[in-house]
Amino acid sequence: MPINQEFMIEIVIFIGLPGSGKSTFYRTHFAETHALVSKDLMRNNKKPARRQAFLIAEHLKSGTSLVVDNTNPTLGDRHAIIEIAQDYQAKIIGYYFESKIADCLTRNRQREGKARVPDYALYMTRHKLVPPNYSEGFHQLFQVKIAPNPGTFEVHPWTREENLGSESI
Ligand SMILES: Nc1ncnc2c1ncn2[C@@H]1O[C@H](COP(=O)(O)OP(=O)(O)O)[C@@H](O)[C@H]1O
Ligand SMILES: [Mg+2]
Repeated sequence: MPINQEFMIEIVIFIGLPGSGKSTFYRTHFAETHALVSKDLMRNNKKPARRQAFLIAEHLKSGTSLVVDNTNPTLGDRHAIIEIAQDYQAKIIGYYFESKIADCLTRNRQREGKARVPDYALYMTRHKLVPPNYSEGFHQLFQVKIAPNPGTFEVHPWTREENLGSESI
């Protein structure tokens, strides 16, 4: 792929535990420019993976950039998305949300109704979580963390070493 390739559309893939701030970040950073695809919006669908793949392809086909707002913890979860994005020559951008288990459990427990998931869902996702890597096909990777000032985030280019420390996962 040429280094200076210009992309017409982009797909943004979020990675992080429930409670790590993904959906809030979508609202503050992407809602005005990118469509939203999330399995949270498909809770009654019997085949959410298939539905998600269909929606991603539909957006890319129509030239609409989008965010995939799921936990996307495994290489397989991300590969399924990246494969479609490559078919449409989209720019593939990943955002890894700092996912300290204690912080995510606290934020999740403060949520109400359907927004709140059982604690075990966080432990299960943490168990599966594999930090992202450029070799998966990302053109750009960032790390995000919730900043002290409410409603704000710190965003930095991804540095693998920092995130492999036991603290952040
Ligand atoms: N930047 C932030 N500042 C303060 N609270 C936040 C911030 N981002 C998220 N939260 C809170 O943390 C909780 C989880 O955020 P959410 O965006 O729903 O996470 P996720 O989509 O990853 O599960 C929510 O209650 C939200 O209000
Ligand atoms: Mg969410």
